[in-house]
Amino acid sequence: MTEILDGNAVAQSVRDDLATAIDQLADEGVQPSLATVLMSDDPASETYVSMKQDDCAEVGIEAIDIEIDPEADADELYDTIDDLNADGNVNGILVQMPVPDHVDDRAVLRAIDPEKDVDGFHPENVGRLVAGDARYKPCTPHGIQKLIESAGVDTEGKDAVVVGRSDIVGKPMANLLVQKAPGGNATTTVCHSRTEDLAAKTGEADIVIAAAGVPEMIDGEMLKEGATVIDVGINRVDADTENGSELVGDVDFESAKEVAGAITPVPGGVGPMTRAMLLYNTVKAASRQHG
Ligand code: GUN
Repeated sequence: MTEILDGNAVAQSVRDDLATAIDQLADEGVQPSLATVLMSDDPASETYVSMKQDDCAEVGIEAIDIEIDPEADADELYDTIDDLNADGNVNGILVQMPVPDHVDDRAVLRAIDPEKDVDGFHPENVGRLVAGDARYKPCTPHGIQKLIESAGVDTEGKDAVVVGRSDIVGKPMANLLVQKAPGGNATTTVCHSRTEDLAAKTGEADIVIAAAGVPEMIDGEMLKEGATVIDVGINRVDADTENGSELVGDVDFESAKEVAGAITPVPGGVGPMTRAMLLYNTVKAASRQHG
């Protein structure tokens, strides 16, 4: 039987574990806080940020909601980041990506104090992750590690294929999978848009992480029997329903689930885990800063 990996349930258990740490911090007079900064009027970004705010409120993290006009000068964003860096009551800072074209996104990531960079995107934190000494693991790859663990799948010695090489998911995911640590020790291949025979790679893999942003690009015929399949895709596609569009992953769920040993649904798989690990990093940031 194929196991459908329930991201909502695993995320809830992460939040339950965090409640203890949050209670402990409260005893010391500390309430973790996360500042989210949105400089965009993209509805998807607005939704993501408001979900992150709600998640914080639910577990007792203070959420500071900052919105900057997407037409504003880039300096307004840099000044905001400077203020948040200097504010001792702010433990975590998240600037929702993408920022407008006139803002240099790499400079934005460098401007955030690495101790408050709960996304794990600052070059110092990226370097530490690659060196096997992560301060904050990026939320989506970390959440995927937890999901794989929850399926009872040991990554050690397995063949893992990551499809996609983004800075947010593909690259950090591959780094975690090769690390000499629990959730790592996998023989890891990174595939991308220039990979010549993707099916040959995925078809050999014990673990497939689909994070290319291409709707339903991986189907059951491209998978090995019993593989663990993690779908990071969130693609809105036109549906022949009157609702207009529907959400699909990078994996063709119906055919893949006939072959996979375990598989994540979209929605309800990786997404809730990403949000839970942001809370985890924020609590970790508060502990580090008050430790
Ligand atoms: N945009 C899409 N995913 C993310 C994320 O994980 N963090 C931030 N800051 N922006 C994003």
